[in-house]
Formats: sequence, C-alpha cells, structure tokens
Amino acid sequence: MATNRKILMLPGDGIGPEVMHEVKRMIDWMRDYRGTAFEVQEGLCGGAAYDAHGTSLTEETMADAQAADAVLFGSVGGPKWDNVEREQRPEAGLLRLRKEMDLFANLRPATVFDALADASTLKPEVVTGLDLMIVRELTAGIYFGEPRGTDTLPDGTRRGFDTDVYTEPEIQRVARVGFELARKRNNKLHSVEKANVMELGVFWREVVTELHKAEYPDVELHHMYADNCAMQLVRYPKQFDVIVTSNLFGDILSDCAAMLTGSLGMLPSASLGLPDENGQRKALYEPVHGSAPDIAGKRQANPVAMMLSYAMMLRYSFDMDDDANLVEQAIKNVLGGGLRTADIMQAKTAKVSTDVMGDAILREMGKLNR
Ligand code: IPM
Ligand code: MG
Repeated sequence: MATNRKILMLPGDGIGPEVMHEVKRMIDWMRDYRGTAFEVQEGLCGGAAYDAHGTSLTEETMADAQAADAVLFGSVGGPKWDNVEREQRPEAGLLRLRKEMDLFANLRPATVFDALADASTLKPEVVTGLDLMIVRELTAGIYFGEPRGTDTLPDGTRRGFDTDVYTEPEIQRVARVGFELARKRNNKLHSVEKANVMELGVFWREVVTELHKAEYPDVELHHMYADNCAMQLVRYPKQFDVIVTSNLFGDILSDCAAMLTGSLGMLPSASLGLPDENGQRKALYEPVHGSAPDIAGKRQANPVAMMLSYAMMLRYSFDMDDDANLVEQAIKNVLGGGLRTADIMQAKTAKVSTDVMGDAILREMGKLNR
C-alpha cells in the first residue's frame, strides 16, 4: 500500500479527542476494507498542548502541520484555561495554524439531511433540502488586524479596540473561491458586508463587483448586508447557494447556518490555502462546533461533524470522491434509521452514545462497501 498521504491529527480539548477517536476507527476501517493507507501522526494543540508544554502550539507541531498533506483538527478551549495568558490561550494555537498555513478560504457547508429536517429549531418546510455553502475568509480581517489592544486616554478613560482590515488581493482571492464554487453549484453568489456603515464594507463591495465584471460575469451576484443575511438565513435560507464574507461575519453567520441543519454537531469545515505549482493546497479540516466542555468525557458528543470533516478531507485533499461519498451515505442511512446523539434527538428516535453512533456508521459503511 502506498502511504504518500500524510495526515496530522490534532484532537485538541473537550470533546475533540472523543469525536476524533471515531475518525481514527474510520481510518482503520478504510485501511482494512478499502486498502486506503494514510500516514497518521498525532499531536497536541490548545489547552492539551498548554498543559504539556506551556504553549498552545509548539514549534514542532507547527512544522508538522506545514509538512502534512492535511491536518485533521478537533476542537480547542475550555474553562480550565480561562486564566491562561492571552498569547497562550487554547484558541491562539488554532489561529496560528490558520495564519501560518495561510488557510484563507474556510468552506462551511450547511446541508440538511432529510432525516433531520424535523430536528431543526426552524419549521421543516424552511430547511428541508437546504444546501448552502459559506465561504469565510480566515486569515485576515478583525481576527488579525493591527492595531489592537487596550489603552488609557489622557483623561484616564480606558478603551479597547480591534481593526477590521482587508487588502484588495485578500478580498479577491477569497471571492474567487466563492465564484468558482458557485459555478460548480447553482451559480449564485451572495457577497456579505456592511457597506451601509463600514468603509471596509464599501471597499469589499467594490472589489467583488470589479472581479465579477472581469472574470465571473456568468455568475449571479448579490450584495447583502451582514445583519440582513443573518435575518434571511432564518427566514428563507433556501435563497442562498454560496455566501462569501469576511472572517468575523463568517464566524457568526456559520453558527447561525449550522443550527438550520439541526445541530452544531452536524457541520464540518475545510480551510484551504492557494494551490502550489503541483495543484496541492495546504488544508485543515475541523468541525464547526467547539470543545463543548459541559459534555466532554460523557460519551454524548455527536461525531458526525468530525466525520464529515474527514469526508471533506478525502474529497478536497486526496480526490477520493468515492470514499467521501461512502462516509456521507453511511451517515445519511444511519440517521435515516433513527439513531441520534443527544443534540439531534427527535420523537421516535433512539438516543445513542458517541461510540455507538460510530459503530453504527462503520457497520453501515461495511454494508455499502459489499
Ligand atoms: C470557529 C471558532 C473559532 C473562531 C474560535 C475557536 C477561535 O468559533 O472556528 O468558528 O472564532 O474562528
Ligand atoms: Mg465560530
């Protein structure tokens, strides 16, 4: 078996290791039954790395991530590290990975599985058949802009500030990802900002409009204010195909989109860099959910978002569409069969633990593989 596919696994904190465990079993299964070999390395990130090394990401792990073909990431953070110095807080490790690997395009697909249309807090007719993609810019904007900090004015008043800033190329490259994805889907792109209030918003709109005219006139382009977008996502989400937006708005809107699918525990994501000369992109795959410290260690976490992130890795980093489809179909069937983790419980379904959900999905993969 050729093992030229190098994965770095960073399970992280809270439920991260539990949901990653289910993906490890999937990798073993694929080795045994599909002859798919990965070279898997495991590392620490977030609070787990802080406890072991006093930093949320060591230089060694950063180098391993740069050298890997793909990084599989769990989740980081938790109350245990609330008082850790800011530069070392668990989230800083994740932000550094995103920034130094230049993973500017964060793809967050919100699709509603038929079996889960009733699990959403919205009416089934609003979400049934929903399939939208949020493209969130991930390496610039207010998450990284300078100046940032707190200071004290001459009169003794304290203040805090961050800077939302994008260069023209930073807007263009993420907008291109949005336009390209739209072309492969339903050819519709919503570009989201606050041009009614922010200078950056006006500039963002101008750059996207110019790019549209120059390179993507065939794509249906809409501009939308971020607050309206939040409202439209819960009013009539099926109007959207692809949404492209900045780091902060994307963070907020993707949590909102996740709940349309029934639970934050269902939403995967892929963070991609630019292709190199061989067409290879740096990539990190992680569930949109966090470390959920309240349920960590209780075998209650939903492993599906992590598994779907793994499927995205198969598809985007390794061109393994058949294997990705197998994972996704198995998940669909198991949900259709009525098994649920606590977060997606509905009437007349059976509540199962993380590992029993994992067992069932593996068994279903076995059936589909015959
Ligand atoms: C996300 C998370 C992260 C973010 C946190 C954990 C730093 O909320 O990936 O959406 O804000 O980007
Ligand atoms: Mg978030």
